[in-house]
Amino acid sequence: MANQVVKERTERTKWYLESRFGMFIHWGIYAIPARGEWIRSYERIPKEEYETYMKEFDARNYDPGEWARLAKKAGMKYAVLTAKHHDGFCMYDSKYTEFKSTNAPCGRDLVREFLEAFRKEGIRVGLYFSLIDWSREDYPHYGDQFHPMRDNEDYRNREHDFDQYLTYMHNQVRELLTDYGHLDLMWFDFSYGPMKCETWRAAELIKMVRELQPHIIIDNRLEGSAEDAGSIRTLDPTPYSGDFASPEQMIPPAGLLDAGGNPIPWEACITLNKNWGYHAHDRHYKSARMVIRTLVECVSKNGNLILNVGPDATGRIPKESVRILEEVGDWMEDNQDSIYGCGASVLPKPEWGRFTQKGNLLYAHVMEEQIGAVCLPGMAGKVGKMRLLKDRTEVKESHFWNLKEYRENAFFFFDPNASDCYPLPDERDTVVEMECTW
Ligand code: GLC
Repeated sequence: MANQVVKERTERTKWYLESRFGMFIHWGIYAIPARGEWIRSYERIPKEEYETYMKEFDARNYDPGEWARLAKKAGMKYAVLTAKHHDGFCMYDSKYTEFKSTNAPCGRDLVREFLEAFRKEGIRVGLYFSLIDWSREDYPHYGDQFHPMRDNEDYRNREHDFDQYLTYMHNQVRELLTDYGHLDLMWFDFSYGPMKCETWRAAELIKMVRELQPHIIIDNRLEGSAEDAGSIRTLDPTPYSGDFASPEQMIPPAGLLDAGGNPIPWEACITLNKNWGYHAHDRHYKSARMVIRTLVECVSKNGNLILNVGPDATGRIPKESVRILEEVGDWMEDNQDSIYGCGASVLPKPEWGRFTQKGNLLYAHVMEEQIGAVCLPGMAGKVGKMRLLKDRTEVKESHFWNLKEYRENAFFFFDPNASDCYPLPDERDTVVEMECTW
């Protein structure tokens, strides 16, 4: 059974692991207060008060075609939109609730439009779906770890029927998987304390998911979270352990392995500033250079990067995010061969940057300027043709006089007539492709 789970997972995740780079989109009515998607919980906002935001959600600038073109330009191969976040507001026309975008002034099925636009650009599509739902009477309130009313005495003795909640939640998953065409990915979020595994009726849910869309890949949060990956890391993963692990706001120091030392699929989810949902005052954006290096880091450890944008209430991706993604796209245009289909190298991390690898093609990502030649440790006699990935400029192995004492290594200069590797041709990350034998 366990091996079967792993075998099917390996098969399903092939396209996904080759893609390496995706776009996460957190969008909902929380973009109006503009203090992040957890605002209802953080500020303990009562339901009636929070739901008034729906009345002004007009999404007037929503143009998913524009988003899709941006994602494509940045080199992203898949995209995941929040169909529903913890606040319970549905960005689609769910027949099980009135708290949805089609009842807001925008009157649009935002999910459907997203799916159509991204598919049109050849980008694979996924939906984020919150297992937690603060809008439902039947979800635990008082005493729950996160519910906005968790310490409100008025809710202490309130009765609720959690099983009824589960039926609602399962029904919504079913409608997304039935009425919205081919979905590549489902991103469930998240489990905590006792709220995990069979508390969600996970086996039944996953059975339905796989029946409706057998190819679909899912994350590991029916069982886990960023705090605990769940049984995907064991040798005996459950059927709902998920197809990939989902470390959040960090890159695993050495990639992710199961208990037997085998690599497991993983995807780091990272925000571009500090928030997932739109936050008007958060200007703490990462530089394009940092994003590029983070993507390379993930690939060099056999992982994916899903990078988040948080559109504002009108449906615009913040200008800063657009600028960063366009610059990442500028680098990807030249260097994508060192990302797609690549993974960890057989060589350890070098001092000046990172390696990624695809078969016998080794990609040296040089990120730090060097005094003298760039060293390929232990690679003497193993390096064939070397080319700057960007424009196929020849890079030659060097036997400069001052390298003679270090014959077990191979060395190169970017310019064979120079004796220095300073400054770097691309200070963000200069990539050399090399044909190697091991
Ligand atoms: C979380 C958060 C959240 C965000 C997400 C993305 O655990 O609850 O708001 O959607 O993870 O990974």
